[in-house]
Amino acid sequence: MNLPEKRDLHGTVVAVTGASSGIGLAASRLLVSRGAKVVVSARRLERLNALVSELGAGNAIAYQYDVKDREQAQGLVDKALDAFGRMDSLVAAAGFGAYGSIMDHPDDLLEDMIMTNVAGTVWPVRASVRHFIDNGGGDLVIVASVAGLRGGANEAVYASTKFAQVGLAGSMDRELRENGIRVSAICPAGVRTEFALGLGRVEGDPSLDALLQPEDVADAIVAVLEQPRRMRTTLWSMWSMVEQS
Ligand SMILES: NC(=O)c1ccc[n+]([C@@H]2O[C@H](COP(=O)([O-])OP(=O)(O)OC[C@H]3O[C@@H](n4cnc5c(N)ncnc54)[C@H](OP(=O)(O)O)[C@@H]3O)[C@@H](O)[C@H]2O)c1
Repeated sequence: MNLPEKRDLHGTVVAVTGASSGIGLAASRLLVSRGAKVVVSARRLERLNALVSELGAGNAIAYQYDVKDREQAQGLVDKALDAFGRMDSLVAAAGFGAYGSIMDHPDDLLEDMIMTNVAGTVWPVRASVRHFIDNGGGDLVIVASVAGLRGGANEAVYASTKFAQVGLAGSMDRELRENGIRVSAICPAGVRTEFALGLGRVEGDPSLDALLQPEDVADAIVAVLEQPRRMRTTLWSMWSMVEQS
């Protein structure tokens, strides 16, 4: 039996938003372990600097910015090109959620969620796509959620933002395939990250161990990037065994 062919990530360059914690952090670590170089991006610079120290300055560089800021999105691509001379992929993992009745959340919180999760995906994606088109191809991996595949009580606006990401990914897949651009929406259910801890779960709760771990999602992100370029994964939903699909 032939082993499945895998694309070698050595020497490729991946920009990761949301790299200061959770899924983006785990993906950055796994990518470097597979030989890729990463631009790690988020707002908390001290965390990014600690990650760069851990991964090695030759393998990683930090780019601090707020994904809502469209003026700074191009800087993510420029950072990759300046530091490593190329950019092959974007992993868009920045985002946040808040649960509760749509009627109870403050307007500012909902606006921030919409701008972070939707606009904060669109701006870095657009900057990356411009470069990928000029460069003959590239990969976009958007970390959405199973909330973007079916709505749920007490997550109306969060689910809306995640549906938007899934719609963005599906539309770009149809539009950009002929440019050699692959687009994947990774849709995890509950993942044990700071995001999960902020949603009524507390550190030490044994049920957290049963959730997906950020490394599980990182593994899916790397798996789609490692697929040979003759194929693509457009949508990947993932669940722990303790959650109802
Ligand atoms: N955990 C779950 O249960 C779960 C399930 C499905 C999908 N997801 C999705 O997975 C993605 C990553 O979440 P996570 O679970 O890894 O949570 P996390 O540990 O809280 O990480 C969120 C990341 O997003 C960054 N971020 C948030 N707002 C930002 C902004 N305005 N500008 C730049 N960066 C920003 C944070 O960095 P800074 O604060 O340093 O900026 C952090 O690096 C999110 O899109 C989330 O919706 C999570």
